[in-house]
Amino acid sequence: MNETIKATYIAHEGALSDVSAFDSGATARAVTFHRSLPMYEPTPLADLKCLAEGLGLGRVAVKDESKRFGLNAFKGLGTSYAIAKYIAQYLDLPESEMTYENLQQPEYRERIRNLTLVTATDGNHGRGIAWAAKLFGLFAHVFMPKGGSPERLANIRGLGAEAAFTTYNYDDTVRHAANLAKEKGWVLAQDTAFDGYTEIPRWIMQGYTTLAHEAVEQYDELPTHIFLQAGVGSLPGAITGYFAAHYGEKRPVITIVEPNRADCIYRTAAANDGAPRIVTGEINSIMAGLSCGEPSPIAWEILRDHADHFVSVPEWVAAKGMRILGNPLDDDPHVVSGESGAVTTGLVAELMQNTSLDYLRESIGLGKDARILCISTEGDTDRTNYRRVVWDGLYPSY
Ligand SMILES: Cc1ncc(COP(=O)(O)O)c(C=O)c1O
Repeated sequence: MNETIKATYIAHEGALSDVSAFDSGATARAVTFHRSLPMYEPTPLADLKCLAEGLGLGRVAVKDESKRFGLNAFKGLGTSYAIAKYIAQYLDLPESEMTYENLQQPEYRERIRNLTLVTATDGNHGRGIAWAAKLFGLFAHVFMPKGGSPERLANIRGLGAEAAFTTYNYDDTVRHAANLAKEKGWVLAQDTAFDGYTEIPRWIMQGYTTLAHEAVEQYDELPTHIFLQAGVGSLPGAITGYFAAHYGEKRPVITIVEPNRADCIYRTAAANDGAPRIVTGEINSIMAGLSCGEPSPIAWEILRDHADHFVSVPEWVAAKGMRILGNPLDDDPHVVSGESGAVTTGLVAELMQNTSLDYLRESIGLGKDARILCISTEGDTDRTNYRRVVWDGLYPSY
């Protein structure tokens, strides 16, 4: 495949889709729940002052989600919130009683003991589900696409879930988990929506708003530009929804980033004719978390109406980001960022350094007044590949 940086833009006019599910009330509920978890702590925002100066930008700050709940990725925010919401609904409890401590009551634990969760994952979401299941005393079955990372599988098993590889790609693994849920009466805890299945994916997205809330508090001023990586689009959809709901027209410019090998959202945006574009077959990107071929419809609706630029990038852009964040300039803090985590920083650097991308840099509006926020959504969740990239130079630039 001819891998290259491709971009498209959506201009927003007319009526925009509703983002009230990510407004201040929704965010406050997610934040309140997360604060009730004994292991909750905001993740650090790494202010890369020297990098910003070196690239000719006003500010570059990277939210380091490798520090989230000891899970090395952001996903626990969505899984814990959605599972708690499901349990509260099952027990008929109001959200005000949906705290970690309250849900530990023996009477409640006994009533939910027989609930079994099932999910599909490239690794991080499944680890988040295994962890959330353990928090509340549930059992989880987790399925990974063929060719996934054995280290990621082992981390899921380490949390007590039953985990296995399938012989399918990611999207067919989701269908496999959904079929099993139906057949066995298990609860499908999936971070992507489809026809007739939207409640849990929306709760997962609402859980991600805690990340945006923390980032805004830590940034002190509103960023002018946010770069968000997309798999099915739930993470970028949630963060975009948050900024659209909280800031309206004053929201930052939002750029969505995906690997060329799984750029279903970029292709859907480029066509923008109401039909999703699906990437089929084996998707062997090093950005495993972004290796999804079908957009989540509830996320796409938000991205279509509230995100601006959609960029599809080669593998080496992620590798470049991993090397930049792992080898900081001067006093800049060090961020261990995995493949899916680093791709946005890699793209920001490339946009500032590569004159053939002048058109895109100008269209996004990057320059000395730009205040950028990236989210390093994972640490070295596949340490073998991390070292092959950062130590051995796998996927050199160009
Ligand atoms: C590290 C990482 N970053 C980003 C994403 C993208 O999230 P979404 O699939 O919700 O777009 C994922 C999803 O698995 C991920 O694991």
